[in-house]
Amino acid sequence: MKIVITGGLGFIGQHLATRLIAAGHDVLLVDSLIAQIHGDIPSVSVPEGARVVRLDTSLLPEHPELIDGSDAVFHLAAETGTAQSMYRIAHYTGVNCGGTAALLEAIAKCSKRPRHVVLASSRSVYGEGAYVRPDAPTQLLQPAARAPEALAAGDWEPRDASGVALVAVPTPESLPFAPGSIYAATKAAQELLINSTATALGFRSTVFRFQNVYGEGQSLQNPYTGIITIFFNRARQGLDIPLYEDGLESRDFVHVSDIAAALHASLSTDLPPGAVINLGAGQPTSVRTLASSLLQAAGIDVPVRVTGQFRVGDIRHCHADLGLARRLMGFEPQVTLDEGLRRFCAWGVGQPVHEDRSAAATAELRSKGLTK
Ligand SMILES: NC(=O)c1ccc[n+]([C@@H]2O[C@H](COP(=O)([O-])OP(=O)(O)OC[C@H]3O[C@@H](n4cnc5c(N)ncnc54)[C@H](O)[C@@H]3O)[C@@H](O)[C@H]2O)c1
Repeated sequence: MKIVITGGLGFIGQHLATRLIAAGHDVLLVDSLIAQIHGDIPSVSVPEGARVVRLDTSLLPEHPELIDGSDAVFHLAAETGTAQSMYRIAHYTGVNCGGTAALLEAIAKCSKRPRHVVLASSRSVYGEGAYVRPDAPTQLLQPAARAPEALAAGDWEPRDASGVALVAVPTPESLPFAPGSIYAATKAAQELLINSTATALGFRSTVFRFQNVYGEGQSLQNPYTGIITIFFNRARQGLDIPLYEDGLESRDFVHVSDIAAALHASLSTDLPPGAVINLGAGQPTSVRTLASSLLQAAGIDVPVRVTGQFRVGDIRHCHADLGLARRLMGFEPQVTLDEGLRRFCAWGVGQPVHEDRSAAATAELRSKGLTK
């Protein structure tokens, strides 16, 4: 197949491109190589056999020939910093929503349009995700964002209206949108843009909502996203690992090879049009456990410090319900967290140490009232 990947020189895009090329596909990567991910003078290794065009997605309508005649497009290009999106609002909306609109406009101009468009969306569209009351374990609830006053008092767990602390359960795709950040809102908007044009433009759309993806090749210089890379970069410099809240907030960490395998499989699986599918490991891991597992995998001993700080709009817990991914695609994550961290560290030790900019990023958020 002839396949286009926007954001194809990013973390997930590179893994996907490598897989697709190995399977014999013709792969074109469209990427503007933004400095926050790739540095001011980008040095990026291009997967062998890939063709590359350096272009901002906003310019795609002027270059429909890049898409014309392709069989499938994976739309991965995006700005991805949740907290940063809360003050660079016009920029994030422009890149993520405007970029998706530009892709669709380019598709509309093609004489032979792609048959399949796959979007990289995010679990962030759910906000807090699914919870239950301890006394009603089968009735799913979706709590509102936690009140800043509760967080300031160290009351971390989401509660229902009567004050009962709720318990996180796997989040299914049926939960409505409840984005708690501009980033999340742009991912929800991307889904709507793609799914609402699919029939008219004649392509099958598939939306994957990723949990926290990690692994080899993830940018070590972006201080705004990727807690594993931020922690790793700090630990290598002997700096402590600061944990927000009490460190018991949890995320679902999925290795990038499992994500790339699922994206690849979507090309040959008979998915229903407009399918929206969770991808994750399906397991919650507290940030505190993550930090100690990472330090163990890296063989580094630095203090892990619970700061009690919190970010406005952060969620407490979320992990994926993989039932639909299993049913529709036979998806089963293959890489355990310990194995994935081992692979990440084995790659990471060969990478340059970058100046730690996470403290400056936190200070920037604090100055804007977004971290307390
Ligand atoms: N990594 C995760 O944990 C995660 C979780 C949920 C969803 N996602 C989604 O998956 C996709 C890929 O994420 P990633 O982790 O590989 O991110 P990444 O930042 O490593 O890659 C994104 C790529 O897009 C490129 N890009 C950014 N703006 C662009 C523009 N205007 N035009 C062209 N290229 C542009 C960047 O240069 C970069 O190479 C994103 O859409 C992201 O929202 C990622």
